[in-house]
Amino acid sequence: MSPPAMAETDEFQKGVKHLSENGVRKLPSKYVLPVSDRPNVHEELPNVAKSSLKLPLIDFAQLQGPNRSRVLQSLASACEDYGFFQVVNHGIPIEAIRSMIDVSSRFFGLPYEERAKYMSSDMTSPVRYGTSLNQTKDSVFCWRDFLKLVCNPLSEVLPRWPSSPVDFREVAATYAEETKRLFLRMTEAIMESLGATTPEDDETLKKFKDGSQLMVVNCFPPCPEPDLTLGMPPHSDYGFLTLLLQDQVQGLQIQHKGKWITVEPLPNSFVVNVGDHLEIFSNGRYKSVLHRVFVNPAKPRLSVASLHSLPFNCKVGPSPKLIDEQNPRRYKDTDFATFLEYVSSCEPKKKNFLESRKLG
Ligand code: OGA
Ligand code: NI
Repeated sequence: MSPPAMAETDEFQKGVKHLSENGVRKLPSKYVLPVSDRPNVHEELPNVAKSSLKLPLIDFAQLQGPNRSRVLQSLASACEDYGFFQVVNHGIPIEAIRSMIDVSSRFFGLPYEERAKYMSSDMTSPVRYGTSLNQTKDSVFCWRDFLKLVCNPLSEVLPRWPSSPVDFREVAATYAEETKRLFLRMTEAIMESLGATTPEDDETLKKFKDGSQLMVVNCFPPCPEPDLTLGMPPHSDYGFLTLLLQDQVQGLQIQHKGKWITVEPLPNSFVVNVGDHLEIFSNGRYKSVLHRVFVNPAKPRLSVASLHSLPFNCKVGPSPKLIDEQNPRRYKDTDFATFLEYVSSCEPKKKNFLESRKLG
């Protein structure tokens, strides 16, 4: 017989969907954050804004027309001031978006045993189902289950993706291809907005075509005591850009001018954010900003984050164009392998990884 403490631990390894399905009424202490880390969404504190925020809006269709230079300016300001923006008229069919949300919620609706087939502690596995951020390391768990899908090369990883629901692979593969295409065009625009247009930068741009793509489907079930925990703790994203699809339920907050601000969901749009690699590439001009997710007692929330960067073993460093006497190189080169090493060796708290790449 296993001791009770062990049985309790196992219960948490099964994730929060499992807890919520079993009608948990009180938040288990495993999820209770220290007072200073709690979301305080309903309180008036100096570090939490009362109002929600409309992120800078980028009309992607306008980017392809005569207004390109004006849109590039807005893009640059958004990346400098917020590290986040929202994209409309992005050209991804609404049907692809709806189907992705729909098939994801059907995946999380499968019996626990079916989902658990994809559990793995191997960080490099093409498919990984799990809970919290790192369920073997986190001392306090966050209120989130996830399905991570490596998307490159698509034809190789696809047979490893969940075979249930039956349409999962087809829908998720289409969605991955569509977001990849949007990412490539966004990245072209971002490089242009940085004035990074040398032959060397062109080479970098080409490398993105075979770059890394990781999709993370996040599931945040209703939480009995949402004020005591978070769906995701403050973090920045490691890649170049993240394209985030959120459903209609609020949850995402970004840090802006020292306050936590809620990002209003905007139907059929993407929230795009600067990742650590882009902050490094831009030599600090564009900001990889801390964000977090709060949960609520009533509505399940689902989001799909698509993280893009260079191929896994490719180095990312500041673009030579952005280094001069006034702006010395501010970051060491880095690659994905270094990041994996870093997260496996210590808890990825806040912006630690990026800090570890800073010079001086
Ligand atoms: C992420 C993330 C935010 C959200 O997956 O990295 O920040 O709203 N998600 O789910
Ligand atoms: Ni994130």
